[in-house]
Amino acid sequence: MRRVKTAVLISGNGSNLQAILDAAKAPDYPAEIALVISNVETAYGLTRAQNAGVTTVTIPHGNYASRESFDRMVDASLKSHGIELVVMAGFMRILSDWFVNEWQGKLINIHPSLLPKYKGLHTHARAIEAGDAEHGATVHWVTPELDSGEIIAQASTPIAADDTPETLKQKIHALEHTLYPEAVKKVARHMQ
Ligand code: GAR
Repeated sequence: MRRVKTAVLISGNGSNLQAILDAAKAPDYPAEIALVISNVETAYGLTRAQNAGVTTVTIPHGNYASRESFDRMVDASLKSHGIELVVMAGFMRILSDWFVNEWQGKLINIHPSLLPKYKGLHTHARAIEAGDAEHGATVHWVTPELDSGEIIAQASTPIAADDTPETLKQKIHALEHTLYPEAVKKVARHMQ
């Protein structure tokens, strides 16, 4: 079985990366996690990738004078590893229009809200403040407009009266760890 060569972009803990690495151990999983790129040297997700035997590259964004020069390094790294699908998992950098256009149709993201609600940051606190009955996570195609590309998959959970942004964040993480590996599977199947 051909497996789609996939890179995961991270900036931090990498719990979603871990869920995808675990799912990708299944012999029939259609994506091979071939590369992990972080813009943060201390990201724990780099250790997770190394423990799984996956090649890691760190590209500290502070070393680049412009957003696009950073993005061009990421692009060069992806291409030099023969990457076909790029999965953003807690990658906390906005990518330039140039990069997004270069990878359009091959670039997906997970966002911690029920898009189109709560694009951007502080999604858990915003959902609580608005008095929403439910909150969730969305996997979507990446387009130049932030958190606005076509939705691939969503999962939701009720907001309890005593939820805080922190407890809600934990609930959303738990949802994401099932949602994202399934969504990557679906996308990679279409690319096989
Ligand atoms: C996830 O909850 C993801 O949805 C969010 O960052 C977290 C990363 O967790 N992404 C965004 O906020 C993107 N704007 P992880 O590093 O443990 O996977």
